[in-house]
Amino acid sequence: MLSKYIWFIPLLLILTPKQSQLATADAAACSNLERHEIERRLSTKTPYRAIANYNDSAPLYDGCHPTRIWAIIRHGTRNPSKAVILHAKERLVEIQARLLAQSKPNLCADELKQLRQWSWAHIDADDEKLLVAEGEDELIELAERMQLRFPSLLPDLYNPEWFYMKYTATQRTLKSAQSFATGLFGRHRIHAINYPQPLHRDPVLRFYKLCSRWKTDVDKNPETMFNARSFYAEPAMQSAVAHVRSITKLMDLTPEDVQLMYTVCAFETAWQRRRPPSVWCRFFNVAALSALEFAEDLEYYWNDGYGYELTHRIACPAIADMFAAIDTPRPRANATFYFTHSGTLLKMLAHLGVARDERPLTHKDFESGRLWRTSEIDAFATNLAFVRYDCIEREPRVLVMHQERAVRLPGCPQDDDLCPLSTLRRNYADSVERCDFEALCQAAN
Ligand SMILES: *[C@@H]1O[C@H](CO)[C@@H](O)[C@H](O)[C@H]1NC(C)=O
Ligand SMILES: *[C@@H]1O[C@H](CO)[C@@H](O)[C@H](O)[C@H]1NC(C)=O
Repeated sequence: MLSKYIWFIPLLLILTPKQSQLATADAAACSNLERHEIERRLSTKTPYRAIANYNDSAPLYDGCHPTRIWAIIRHGTRNPSKAVILHAKERLVEIQARLLAQSKPNLCADELKQLRQWSWAHIDADDEKLLVAEGEDELIELAERMQLRFPSLLPDLYNPEWFYMKYTATQRTLKSAQSFATGLFGRHRIHAINYPQPLHRDPVLRFYKLCSRWKTDVDKNPETMFNARSFYAEPAMQSAVAHVRSITKLMDLTPEDVQLMYTVCAFETAWQRRRPPSVWCRFFNVAALSALEFAEDLEYYWNDGYGYELTHRIACPAIADMFAAIDTPRPRANATFYFTHSGTLLKMLAHLGVARDERPLTHKDFESGRLWRTSEIDAFATNLAFVRYDCIEREPRVLVMHQERAVRLPGCPQDDDLCPLSTLRRNYADSVERCDFEALCQAAN
C-alpha cells in the first residue's frame, strides 16, 4: 500500500499548476473530419479514387456483345494554376506564420507538425497544371478496370487499326493518354502508339476554344459569375468564413483567404492518397466544405453547364464524332479514347441531359438538394463512354457510362441500361445533323 503512495509524491511535484495548463493547451483536439468527408467535397479537384467504381466485372447482356467504344476522359490530378501557386506561396505563408506564432493554436500536435513542415517552395509557378503522380495512377487504374470490363473490345496488344487515341496540346492530357495506354498495354509498349497531331484548339476535344461567341457571351461575361458571387453573401458561406476565422483565431481572414485555403486543401489532399489530408482542410468542418463546394458548383453550372443554352449546344461536334465512331460500317477504329479537359466533359454532360436539375441552380439553392455536383460529375479523370453492343436478332444498342457507371439518358428506356442505337440517334439528331458550329459561334457584334 505504502509503496504506491511513494510513487505519487514526485509526480505531484512535477505537475505544478503552470505545467498542467501548458499540457492542456498543447492538447487541442485533432480535427474530426474523416478523409472521405473531405475527398468527396473538392469539386473539380476531387481525386478520382473518391468516386471510382471498383466493380470491374463485365456488364453482360443476353445475346449482345460489345463491339465499339468511344470514350472521352478528363486528365488526372494536376498541379494548380500559376495564380493559385503564387497566391499560396505569399498569402498562405503569411497565414501559416501567424498561426505558428499563436501561443495556443487550435491544432493538435500532429497538425502543428504538419503546419510547421508545410511549404510550397518545391512547386514552381512554371509547373502549373502539370499532371502529378496521382494523376498517372488514376488513368492507369481506370484503363485496367475498363479492360477488365471489356476484355474482347480492349485487347492488351496495341494495334493502330483497333485503337484511336488523341489528346490536346497540353502536358496533362499527353501524360494522361500515356498513363491510360500503360494501363492497357503495359509500360514497355506505349512508345509504339500513333497519336494524331495534338491541337490546342481541337474542334472535337476542345470545341469551345474555337467558339468566340461562347467566349464573349459566357466565359468572359461577368454575369456568368453572378450566382457564385452572390452566394458569398448567403448565410451558409458567411458561416463557413466565420467557422474558419474562429478555428484559426484569425478574425481578419477574408472570404478569398478561406477560398484559397479550400483550394490548397483540395489539391494537396488529391495529390496524396497515402498521406493524411492537407493540414489546410483542418480549419473546415463538413458544413463549411459543403458551402465552398456549392460555390464551385454554381460557377461551373453557369460557365460550363446548363446555365446558358449556347454552352451545351456547342458540344455537338463531340456528339457527332461519337456517332461517327460507333455507328458507321467502316469506323476509324474499334476503340476511341480522347484525353481532354473539364470544360469539355461538363458541356457534353449538359448536352446529353446528365445531372440536370428541374430548375436553374442559383445562389439561393444551397439547401435545396441538387443533381449538379461537380465533385461527383467532374472529378479529376472524369470519364464518359459510349459502348456499342451488337445483338442477335436485335438492333444494336448502346451502354452509356459516366464515371464507370451505367447512366440512362433522357429519351432512352429508364428500365434498361442499354439504349437502342436508333433511339439515341433520334434523340440527338439535331446535334448531328444541325450542328452549325460556325453559325452558333459567330460573335454577336
Ligand atoms: C458489378 O458489376 C456487374 C456488371 O455491371 C453487375 O452485374 C454486378 O451486379 C455488380 N456487382 C455489384 C456487387 O454491384
Ligand atoms: C471491331 O470493329 C469491326 C468493324 O466494325 C467489327 O466488325 C468487329 O466486330 C469489331 N471487333 C470486336 C471484337 O469488337
